[in-house]
Amino acid sequence: MKPTMEKIVSLCKRRGFIFPGSELYGGLASTWDYGPLGVELKRHVKAAWWMSLVYERPDIEGLDAAILMHPQTWQASGHIKSFFDLLVDCKNCKKRFKLEDLTEAGAKKMEQVKCPDCGGSSFTQERAFNLMFKTFLGAVEDSSSQVYLRPETAQGIFVNFSNVLNTRHKKLPLGIAQIGKAFRNEVTTGNFTFRSREFEQMELEYFVHPDQAPKWYKYWVKERLDWYIRLGINPKNLRVREHKKDELAHYAKACSDIEYNFPFGWSELEGIANRADFDLVQHAQSSGKDLSYFDEDSKTKIIPYIIEPSGGVDRAMLAFLIDAYREEEVRERKRVVLGLDKLLAPIKIAVLPLLKNRLDVVRLAQDLTQQLREQRAGSLGKVVYDDTAAIGRLYRRQDEVGTLYCVTVDVQSLEDKKVTVRHRDTMLQERISVDKLREYLLEKLK
Ligand code: GAP
Repeated sequence: MKPTMEKIVSLCKRRGFIFPGSELYGGLASTWDYGPLGVELKRHVKAAWWMSLVYERPDIEGLDAAILMHPQTWQASGHIKSFFDLLVDCKNCKKRFKLEDLTEAGAKKMEQVKCPDCGGSSFTQERAFNLMFKTFLGAVEDSSSQVYLRPETAQGIFVNFSNVLNTRHKKLPLGIAQIGKAFRNEVTTGNFTFRSREFEQMELEYFVHPDQAPKWYKYWVKERLDWYIRLGINPKNLRVREHKKDELAHYAKACSDIEYNFPFGWSELEGIANRADFDLVQHAQSSGKDLSYFDEDSKTKIIPYIIEPSGGVDRAMLAFLIDAYREEEVRERKRVVLGLDKLLAPIKIAVLPLLKNRLDVVRLAQDLTQQLREQRAGSLGKVVYDDTAAIGRLYRRQDEVGTLYCVTVDVQSLEDKKVTVRHRDTMLQERISVDKLREYLLEKLK
């Protein structure tokens, strides 16, 4: 059964995955701080994405562009003109709303709308509100020094298309992948980390011959859907929703969302768009530089089309957490398990002494932990040690955060130099020699 959002939020807070941003000062609306386990899970989500695209394929290169970009970028991209929400205020209670929320994205006329807060039916004229955060470059705060925090990472890729193409001697199709922070001054936020003002995106811009754009668009919708499934999300909780023509962003020819069945309903995890030649044409015109590609086959210059799978790191992580959460009855006691894929689990190995008041057992367990932490001998990620409770409770604690293997050291270990390895999902236990332990664990994590 799907967990409620309350359960997920509580687990995240209690176990150090996600804290409210600036909590010490009463919080800052819709910002989130990733704690010790959250940062591990998030890094693993990003690493899995990077691995599947940049390392496992010959046609994709990585990039890490600056967050602050030349302001002309946003003029050319259309964000200054078109990246806004229409807002209205209730004249009675003065609350502010997104027009599309009140009219259910155009399904209802404004005359039929009642204020969700006070029931009033009189609203101000709609006003456009640009979602980009503004700041200033350098010491002078005037319009000539105004810059924006990027609302998407994509533009950093478009303006570097020629740099990557030429320095890497690439041919089409060529993908450029980037992971990084994006900022949007969202009017309505909520559902935990689902919609916040500062978030991370994982974006691939895949440059193709225009004739091949429909083929690649289809390909990436399937490929990205499969990525979530390969990493353990139940296919029943995923679906693809194609945008209607009137829903498309200003740059898109076609777009499909991969949606996840969150506890608050089906919502977008990632969008795959056919951006056609919009971005390269715009940036070529705005910069006066040639961003065409010489096609050897036809011996002509073309402007590549772009297929863009664009996902949110925070949303992906939230979906992985929700999908992995399960409650089980074991010997008449409740066990909470995060059944995360082995690539994603924040902690792979926990070392636990069976008896915390036997100094020799504790010392052996601590020495073993330190040995397993040695990264150059083959990484087991973050290896934790815990002796702060009885063994049953220690196991439950690790299950609840998705730790894959618990290594238990007992009195017998002092003699036979073997430890017990307990598997998270099956709870099966095996005795393994200490000198074979790393090899055994590395094999399991493959
Ligand atoms: N470059 C295309 C682009 O930015 P988008 O649909 O606006 O497209 C892509 O954003 C992804 O970024 C979304 O599918 C979502 O996962 C994530 N995202 C967008 N806005 C977000 C927000 N306010 N909070 C968290 N994630 C967000």
